[in-house]
Amino acid sequence: MNKKMTITSIQKTKGVRPIVMITAYDALFAKLLEPSSDMILVGDSLNMSFAGKRDTLSATMDQMLYHTNAVCNGAKNTFIVCDMPFGTYTNKDDALCNAIRVFQETSADCVKIEGGQDKADIVKHLTSNGIAVCGHIGLLPQSVRSEGGYKVKGKSEEEKLKLIQDAKAIENAGAFCMVIEGVKADVATAIAKSVKVPVIGIGAGVDVDGQVLVFSDMLGLFEEFTPKFVKKYMDGATLVKDAIQNYADEVITKEFPKEEHTY
Ligand code: KIV
Repeated sequence: MNKKMTITSIQKTKGVRPIVMITAYDALFAKLLEPSSDMILVGDSLNMSFAGKRDTLSATMDQMLYHTNAVCNGAKNTFIVCDMPFGTYTNKDDALCNAIRVFQETSADCVKIEGGQDKADIVKHLTSNGIAVCGHIGLLPQSVRSEGGYKVKGKSEEEKLKLIQDAKAIENAGAFCMVIEGVKADVATAIAKSVKVPVIGIGAGVDVDGQVLVFSDMLGLFEEFTPKFVKKYMDGATLVKDAIQNYADEVITKEFPKEEHTY
């Protein structure tokens, strides 16, 4: 994956091959992820795994801009998505003003906003003012407090129909792709088939148009909890802790630094 993806090339992957999306919050990891990722998401999940908060709701615009700049610096050749944090797109004017900050103060390629039919007018306002938008439907982490937890969606026929309407509403409003989170696999597949834009899943089964995972989850670095949909591709927490313990032991026993580490 050498050539930087564009909105057009991302859309052309639909029905051809799945899109690979991963989150990153800093330049160091962005650079490591770049060779294998089509898109990097600077998710407001950084408020949990980076800032140590209990959910994403207290992430701020300034925080997102800071981390998006860091990721853009680390992965100059990758399509970057910047999450709009909770409370920054409750009306059209605020949404546009904050999305313009993303485009003017960082080199992110699009913003992501959570919501379906209820956010279609906002998506339309952004896209008609030159802001590329990735939607986010299904389980919405920014609604965790109002819904009393993280609830899987698409369990009833009624929820399925609502989700299809959500997807169509934001597609019609101009979203060029969307994330679908925490949705029964058969329902997510039906949604992906009901729209022309790519639908990138997280906890939405295999038959959608791509997958996204939070990097600290997939590398086994985040230990607080592990959602069912996460596959840990390495046991990062153990590797890091063992390495640090090794260093600490060698400092105490004066095995480190050796001659080759000394001027
Ligand atoms: O903030 C985030 O990391 C996200 C993913 C869960 C898709 O929105």
